[in-house]
Amino acid sequence: MTVLAIDQGTSGTKALVVDPADGVVAVAEVPVTPVYLPGGGVEQDPQQLLASVLKAGRRAVELAGGRPVQAVALANQGETVLAWDRRNGRPLSPAIVWQDRRAEALCAERADARDWVRQRTGLVLDSYFSAPKMMWLRENVTRRGVVTTTDTWLVHQLTGGGAFVTDASTASRSLLLDIDTVQWDPELAALFRLDPDGLPRIAACDEIVGTTTAFGEEIPVAGLVVDQQAALLAEGCLTPGTAKCTFGTGAFLLANTGEKALRPASGLTSSVAWRARGQTPYCVDGQVYTAASAVRWLQDLGFVDSAADLDEAAASDAQGVLCVPSLAGLAAPWWRPDATAAFTGMTLSTRREHLVLAVLQGIAAQVAELATLVEADLGAPLTRLRVDGGLTRSRALMQAQADLAQLPVDVYPSTHATALGAAALARLAAEPGLTLEAAVPAWTPGTAFEPRWSKDRAEDHRARWRAAVEATIARDPQED
Ligand code: G3P
Repeated sequence: MTVLAIDQGTSGTKALVVDPADGVVAVAEVPVTPVYLPGGGVEQDPQQLLASVLKAGRRAVELAGGRPVQAVALANQGETVLAWDRRNGRPLSPAIVWQDRRAEALCAERADARDWVRQRTGLVLDSYFSAPKMMWLRENVTRRGVVTTTDTWLVHQLTGGGAFVTDASTASRSLLLDIDTVQWDPELAALFRLDPDGLPRIAACDEIVGTTTAFGEEIPVAGLVVDQQAALLAEGCLTPGTAKCTFGTGAFLLANTGEKALRPASGLTSSVAWRARGQTPYCVDGQVYTAASAVRWLQDLGFVDSAADLDEAAASDAQGVLCVPSLAGLAAPWWRPDATAAFTGMTLSTRREHLVLAVLQGIAAQVAELATLVEADLGAPLTRLRVDGGLTRSRALMQAQADLAQLPVDVYPSTHATALGAAALARLAAEPGLTLEAAVPAWTPGTAFEPRWSKDRAEDHRARWRAAVEATIARDPQED
């Protein structure tokens, strides 16, 4: 069956028409523009998100040249929230993006609850996740309407007001879900002063949640999932111990941990990978908040013309310059939303090409740290790292990744892993006889990178990089 798979991401919405026999038949992309505010605010216009979903979806259907589309799937950003009126669907607030740090103080006020929150949810009490942002919205913007993640609102819009749902993977990013029972937890809702009755129904990822006429004929809406988990599925990480990293706006490393939700000791977090075919595998995950957005920053400074020019702009050796690219705070395992970025090791001979490579190596060093933590939580070494996302086109970044993680890196052959994962879930919803394994096409890497650095060189670089991180977070930004 042919699926319209929509990946509603931080920097844009991508729509694919996918057919199991012919693969990707059409692609359309519409950019969206997060607004970065002083004080750590990051917002999007909900109407722009909806318009981008409709525009990209309709354009992809048009480009598919009349091929009938039989279902629409939606991958979402995971932790981006908004308030809206359930009676008429109208937004009552901007969308507060996952990168937004304004709920940091609300988390700090609840620091005593950190341990039980971790036990109950598998997550860290941090402003990255949905509930602190929902609470911030309630206290600072509006007490009217409902407050949900963007998927719930978008699906409500697509289904003409018929559905009020989220899926199990998105719910597991909220800090409101009991990770073992996969049910909303009223005690967690109370912690964030949220009304548990205002939360949407939790659907399976392979469930039809309604129908839409937004893209032409009436078709089912199915295949709701967090974007990172969708990519984990597309890359075939179906068994415990398999891992992928998506290099998008941020870089997100996820490893399948099987049917039991771990409580990572390392500072990583645990979430639902997907709920499909009556099973709920889990994953551990770690985050680099700024990957493509760090490259975007290099562009804004005039250091790089475009992401495609990265490899030309980067030196082949950073000449001792290191970068901690935490331009939007640090997540696992440091959990310091207040952290800022830093370069170290510069001299009068440092040139912009050294800084560009140092940023790429800084992203790769942070992903390498996450890979080591994943290994500790899995109790077994990773053997390879699967990667996807626009930045995987940078050979300099991918080589740095292989060198610093000391792992072979397999690049997914398509830049559309997220949408392909969502498409697989929509097919599962519509085809009861289909297995998960059959829904996910086998793939061979477009390119693979083997480590070229020695283990000692990698360890030395990573030790110096960790010291640079410690120096960055030891400094109290209030002193400035
Ligand atoms: O947790 C946020 C993440 O899932 C957003 O992904 O692709 O929009 O950067 P992306």
